[in-house]
Amino acid sequence: MDVEIRTIAPQEFEAYIDALNAGFGGHTRPEDIERERMVAEIDRCIAALDGSEIVGGASAASFTMTVPGGSIRAAGVTGVAVKPTHRRQGINSALMRRQLDDVRANGEPLAILYASEGGIYGRFGYGLGSFHCSMDVGREHTAFVRGYRSSGRTRLLDREDALAAMRPLYDRVRADRPGWIELDPTWFAYRFAETHWGEDRKWFYAVHEGADGLDAYAVYRIEHGKSGDHRNGLAVEEVQASSAQAHADMWRYLFDVDLIERITAWNRPIDDPLLHVLQEPDRLRLRIKDALWVRPVDVPKSLEARRYTTEGRTTIEVRDLFCPWNEGRYLVEGGPDGASCATTDAEPDLVMSVNELGAAYLGGVSFRQLHRAGRVQEERPGGLARADAMFGWDPAPWCPFVF
Ligand SMILES: CC(C)(COP(=O)(O)OP(=O)(O)OC[C@H]1O[C@@H](n2cnc3c(N)ncnc32)[C@H](O)[C@@H]1OP(=O)(O)O)[C@@H](O)C(=O)NCCC(=O)NCCS
Repeated sequence: MDVEIRTIAPQEFEAYIDALNAGFGGHTRPEDIERERMVAEIDRCIAALDGSEIVGGASAASFTMTVPGGSIRAAGVTGVAVKPTHRRQGINSALMRRQLDDVRANGEPLAILYASEGGIYGRFGYGLGSFHCSMDVGREHTAFVRGYRSSGRTRLLDREDALAAMRPLYDRVRADRPGWIELDPTWFAYRFAETHWGEDRKWFYAVHEGADGLDAYAVYRIEHGKSGDHRNGLAVEEVQASSAQAHADMWRYLFDVDLIERITAWNRPIDDPLLHVLQEPDRLRLRIKDALWVRPVDVPKSLEARRYTTEGRTTIEVRDLFCPWNEGRYLVEGGPDGASCATTDAEPDLVMSVNELGAAYLGGVSFRQLHRAGRVQEERPGGLARADAMFGWDPAPWCPFVF
């Protein structure tokens, strides 16, 4: 079958969204189209056409993402789907080929995505670079460690006022943690849109104010139990805070809402300070899930965009079957103040594919961990430890916005 791969024309947007939605098993509503229109970059919507029918597609968003000590332009890959009638015929592979070529031509050193299934993207050079976790805790098990004193005040705002108040805080904390994506007001409104692929979403927006003004927010909804029994759940969509005190205060507020049996959250960082605020962290019933997949499209530019925890140098041999322009040996020299990366003929310390480099890139997955999984070779003694001392970063990478 001949399938054409090309970017869509503006008038094809509706059919494009409808095809992607069908690929995910959904039926498109007019509000879905409008929501997607808010942020769509039409020239980054790549469609697969069988005759005049759009049978699949892959989109990208022009993001700026926090990396250790800095930020980088990254293509946020999203909306990847092929209709069930056209699967396993190489269409997604053709879409990924075109997309990564476009990302390279666009000068973005990195591509990032969330995967619906872990088996899809490794073949295209993506490595699993961050994890997040869900929690589900009974309200009676939310006592804090001794010494906690509440402070400040918490208010509920309507959506419009809340978004305006929340975004500056989101921006303030964004620089500190690898994986965060810059969201302008349109993207921020999109992220908290009240409609989402066939689902209506109404949230409560709580903001906390301390001595220096707004220092935390929480977005959540109440899931009502059977009528009349008041055994409700509180489902947290997002909590952000700019200080330890504000973080604890915001969670105390959420844990103390009346008529709630369980508090759940689906996207928390794996190093959430909450683990050390609660007396019984075990009761959070944390469950780890894969999060950001990272794909260096330009190896030297990617490695130069971040900073390194300790001053050092390491030589890495990179294998990259899907984007062979990346293949080679790279000498990375860097530290907390800057880095350089150039090709070299020197013997490598480590040998890996671009997937492992992507996995380690945000500083949350160590080369030793990957080595123990049989995925990184150490060619010179001490090579793993030296590279980990440079690449490892605190805090752990986390992206609160799943795109
Ligand atoms: C995932 C999806 C886009 C793949 O599209 P496709 O056109 O069937 O993929 P291809 O034919 O190009 O497959 C390329 C390879 O990936 C493999 N593959 C495809 N989907 C896979 C999956 N879900 N898990 C594991 N491997 C997968 C194929 O078996 C094939 O392997 P091979 O080269 O060894 O033969 C499609 O199945 C789909 O739309 N799924 C539902 C929506 C979705 O999950 N999208 C991804 C969002 S992140």
